[in-house]
Amino acid sequence: MKIMICPDASHARTLAARILSDQIREKPASVLGLATGRTMEAIYSLLAERSRHDEIDFSAVTTFNLDEYAGLHAGHDQSYRYYMRKHLFDHVNIAPDRTHVPDGSAADVEAEAVSYENRIAAAGGIDLQLLGLGENGHIGFNEPLSSLSSRTRVVTLAQATLEQNAVMFGGDPGRVPTRALTMGTGTILDSRKVLLVVTGSKKADITARVIEGPVSALVPGSALQFHPHCLVILDNAAASGLTQRDAIEWQMRHDPELIALSADGS
Ligand code: GLP
Repeated sequence: MKIMICPDASHARTLAARILSDQIREKPASVLGLATGRTMEAIYSLLAERSRHDEIDFSAVTTFNLDEYAGLHAGHDQSYRYYMRKHLFDHVNIAPDRTHVPDGSAADVEAEAVSYENRIAAAGGIDLQLLGLGENGHIGFNEPLSSLSSRTRVVTLAQATLEQNAVMFGGDPGRVPTRALTMGTGTILDSRKVLLVVTGSKKADITARVIEGPVSALVPGSALQFHPHCLVILDNAAASGLTQRDAIEWQMRHDPELIALSADGS
């Protein structure tokens, strides 16, 4: 795991957008794993802006989103398909048939989960997976106690997740769907590279457990410690619970990859 601490959330998002842009420039036919959530909105807005200025070309890119609520059709304004169109797909030159989000309205969601996993494999696997972190340590919708080797499947959401996401459903946790389809933790670990972006003091404690704690099914994000190419981008607030900050800052000053990321530029 390599860790980059940025002065604030704006720097963290800009750096994440830059890494995604570099990935697309280096491999125009990249397969990107995408995430949803408030953290990602500004990152997608930066990508859309770069696309508008012809700095990146999505025409050969394929995307697979991490997850989707079960029972919500693609046109529902809280579905993740809708979120992706609103924040990214409608603003870049990506071919709609290359954008994949699990179908939460499928008659057989279990079969949809298996088929989704197969579609990722058929596309050659994910080159770069973008991830956010739930306040309870979830990645995708892999809630605490999920198997660390799980594959794409249907899950029951934790109460903490319903509460965290209630704001998008009029503030009422009772309106948040209780079931979802999600790539498994094992599916995520198969990505060639992972980029985890966490901002805000509310996630400081869970971020410390993901990075410094024991690998545990209680904290699904901690499984990323097993990933050979995982970069974590934090703002100062999210990094405020880390006990190993000196060691991390040493790495930031001496690791060539982290030094290059600190440098300005596109
Ligand atoms: C949802 C998504 C997760 C995401 C999380 C973080 O629960 N399923 O993939 O990481 O939101 O959301 P936010 O960025 O709004 O804190």
